[in-house]
Amino acid sequence: MKTSISVTHLDKTFGVIVEGLKLADLKNSQADELYKLWIEHHLLIFPNQHLSQDEQIKFAKLFGEMEFDITPISNVRKDGSIRDPVNDDIVKSLRGNMEWHHDSTYMPIQAKGSVFTAHQVPATGGETGWADMTSAYEALDQDMKDKIEDLSAYHSYTYSQAKYKHKPQAESEFSGYGFDVDPPPFRPLVKTHPETGKKSLLIGRHAYGIPGMTKEESKALLDKLNDFACQGDRVYHHSWKVGDAVIWDNRNLMHQACTWDLTEARVMYHSRIQGEPATESGLNYL
Ligand SMILES: [Fe+2]
Repeated sequence: MKTSISVTHLDKTFGVIVEGLKLADLKNSQADELYKLWIEHHLLIFPNQHLSQDEQIKFAKLFGEMEFDITPISNVRKDGSIRDPVNDDIVKSLRGNMEWHHDSTYMPIQAKGSVFTAHQVPATGGETGWADMTSAYEALDQDMKDKIEDLSAYHSYTYSQAKYKHKPQAESEFSGYGFDVDPPPFRPLVKTHPETGKKSLLIGRHAYGIPGMTKEESKALLDKLNDFACQGDRVYHHSWKVGDAVIWDNRNLMHQACTWDLTEARVMYHSRIQGEPATESGLNYL
């Protein structure tokens, strides 16, 4: 049956804006259609949805099992006050996420995807960017493809947050999730998408320590790949309006937050869909 879903392509290698439906009230046929669109375009943007937390969780569950149902991504405390822009551990996690990454590559099973919604946005800045790692892999020259084909890296939240002097400590409001994974998951630099069969780069800020290379050589190669990957029409940055909802495929997109005046409030809600154990586990967790 024909539906009224309207799909507008971003002028990029991925991503569409989807209008003409209410995510809080989806028909089964629309849910099936959205799943197919998601696999094809990797990022779906739904303006003007204003989902409640329960509606967001229900929507996210259409795409798989949950790694966690919902959490605020916010620089605002429960009492409405703004967190310290530098010294607060929650803000250190926000600042870390301004570097390109895939979600939960530091966990034994990396995320399949994420749903993200905007509840309070700053006057300027605070965009979210995504970068297409399938197109990035395809754009590499053959020498680089050959060089990285059999390489793997460790992924660690302790590693990536050390730069922000963020480490687990008992009195912190953010010291648990992701810090305690031992051993750190070991993941190939080239990942095959379990549903499309296409190869993509699996890199980002949590990756380090490629065996057979010095620390410096490994970092230089990963920096080079990250820089090459995240540019041109492989990148899209979304300026949020309150009520927007998105879902992205974390198996082949990286993402980053853009900075804003951290004395201004930005309140987002994040739901994380778990990867399949057979295809998103670290090689040392299979
Ligand atoms: Fe993230």
